[in-house]
Amino acid sequence: MPAPYPAPPPRSAGRPVIDLPEPDAEAKARCAQVLELLRRDIEEAGGWISFARYMDRVLYAPGLGYYTGGARKFGPAGDFVTAPELSPLFGRSLASTARAVLDQSRGDILELGAGSGRLAADLLLELERHGALPEHYCILELSGELRQRQAETLAEAVPHLLPRVTWLDALPERIRGLVLGNEVLDAVPPHVLHWTESVPMERGVAWSGGPVWAERPASPELSALAATLPVEGDYVSEVNPAATALVASLAERLEAGALLFIDYGYPMAEYYHPQRCTGTLMAHYRHRSLDDPFFLPGLADLTAHVDFSAVARAGEEAGLDLLGYTSQAHFLTDAGLLDLMLEMTPMSPEYLRAAVAVQRLLQPSEMGELFKVIGLGRGVEEGLPGFRRGDRRGAL
Ligand SMILES: C[S@@+](CC[C@H](N)C(=O)[O-])C[C@H]1O[C@@H](n2cnc3c(N)ncnc32)[C@H](O)[C@@H]1O
Repeated sequence: MPAPYPAPPPRSAGRPVIDLPEPDAEAKARCAQVLELLRRDIEEAGGWISFARYMDRVLYAPGLGYYTGGARKFGPAGDFVTAPELSPLFGRSLASTARAVLDQSRGDILELGAGSGRLAADLLLELERHGALPEHYCILELSGELRQRQAETLAEAVPHLLPRVTWLDALPERIRGLVLGNEVLDAVPPHVLHWTESVPMERGVAWSGGPVWAERPASPELSALAATLPVEGDYVSEVNPAATALVASLAERLEAGALLFIDYGYPMAEYYHPQRCTGTLMAHYRHRSLDDPFFLPGLADLTAHVDFSAVARAGEEAGLDLLGYTSQAHFLTDAGLLDLMLEMTPMSPEYLRAAVAVQRLLQPSEMGELFKVIGLGRGVEEGLPGFRRGDRRGAL
């Protein structure tokens, strides 16, 4: 019987940096290759690249980046634990929302950035249990290594459903059904801005024996974006045009159905709160959260919190309705997480394992409050399971 996971923090939480394990020789060699790639990139760009470019190279450089290379990433042996890795109850709870969307849109499921494939397997199994399988479960994954891992997970967990799963190389022209992204938007590279007394500066990366911060005046586009945000005085934070462009692009292609994003983040007023004046960038390495994005490039994950107001606006500008915005705890409870637990034999090993995971998924001090869920849709009634209570749309 597998032991329950020890309790590493979710990807969003901070923890003091002590006793960091040394990378092995292979990992050190990969890190050296990533550093050389960055050095050349910065040199070719004339001595400076944006932080978005830096993060894109560190996470997604073909064959070398954190997501595209050999890093272990998820689970106890990796760098962080995501909700689908904690318990099958996460994916099984999402099935009630998925069923409501699929019923109303007569469509399929598209999962972005499917990680280890755990969420796909759990969701498909639960939909099968309810006789509500979509014809296709599509996955858009940037990492070839993760595609392989997803195929292995699905072949082991749901071999009979594998023919329904398709991996895509790009977004389809038209989408009907449910688009799902758990902890995807936080992995989209942001730009870092420094609001000063005079012009807004963009904080990017130069080279001085290694990557170092360096600023230059922000482009007209980023300056215009900076001017729309509720920031005062000397302030550093991120903006993420690529994340909002991704949402806008999905929204434009969505003929009927819903986009559902689960991630850590805040509405705009909280994101750019005066007290959060150094931004939200974080590196994740072996279950430690570090505020140095230059730590072991290629071996550590990098993330920024999500501005959910910007996500909502991107969807609404493309004609979608804001179906709901709430905390993960409210969402999962309303979607039926605790009812699924009641189906288990009380105090059985399965029940006890689930109880530990459920605590982490729901507790405000763990993932319950910091993680939020946003739903945007076309041709879908309000009142989707997950969003019937705890409505926080007013905060966006
Ligand atoms: C932290 S992982 C989350 C994985 C998984 N959803 C989970 O919850 O375990 C972030 C994932 O987002 C993917 N990703 C980032 N940007 C993406 C994009 N534009 N389209 C699709 N996937 C993307 C990464 O490749 C990676 O698989």
